[in-house]
Amino acid sequence: MSGGTSLTVNGRSHSIASVPQAILLDVLRNELGLKAARFGCGEGLCGACRVLVDGRPVASCDTPLWSVSGKAITTVEGLGTPDAPHPIQAALIAEQAMQCGYCISGIMISAAALLAETTEPSEIAIREALDPNLCRCGAHNRVIRAVQRAAAEMRASAA
Ligand code: FES
Ligand code: FES
Repeated sequence: MSGGTSLTVNGRSHSIASVPQAILLDVLRNELGLKAARFGCGEGLCGACRVLVDGRPVASCDTPLWSVSGKAITTVEGLGTPDAPHPIQAALIAEQAMQCGYCISGIMISAAALLAETTEPSEIAIREALDPNLCRCGAHNRVIRAVQRAAAEMRASAA
């Protein structure tokens, strides 16, 4: 079966050559060269491959291409830039909230989705939002502080 699925990623429209049954993570990494989303478990269980689909975090390892045609996909590459990082990106750096960094793209996606909903998340809400994201290095407490820092900076810049 031929490809030709149209996909909007980070605000740009693409005509995808991969077959509609292809896995979104493979399309992002291998066809579009967007390497931030990572392969971890391949079963929707670790969060390393998360991307935003219409603003909601989704496991791209578990998502067929056809199911996201016409939807807006955001990867970490679309969250911010080195010169203008998303507040969660700046806060993760400020809190030194990474060790190996393998999990961190998925964590950025989950945190960005939460911060788009509220800039006053409780610690419980942060823990719940990040619950699908596994980190084997044990950076959890620093990640939570980073989300709180990003939320505070977003509140301050909105004031
Ligand atoms: S690689 Fe997708 S959830 Fe683990
Ligand atoms: S920083 Fe290594 S898995 Fe999270």
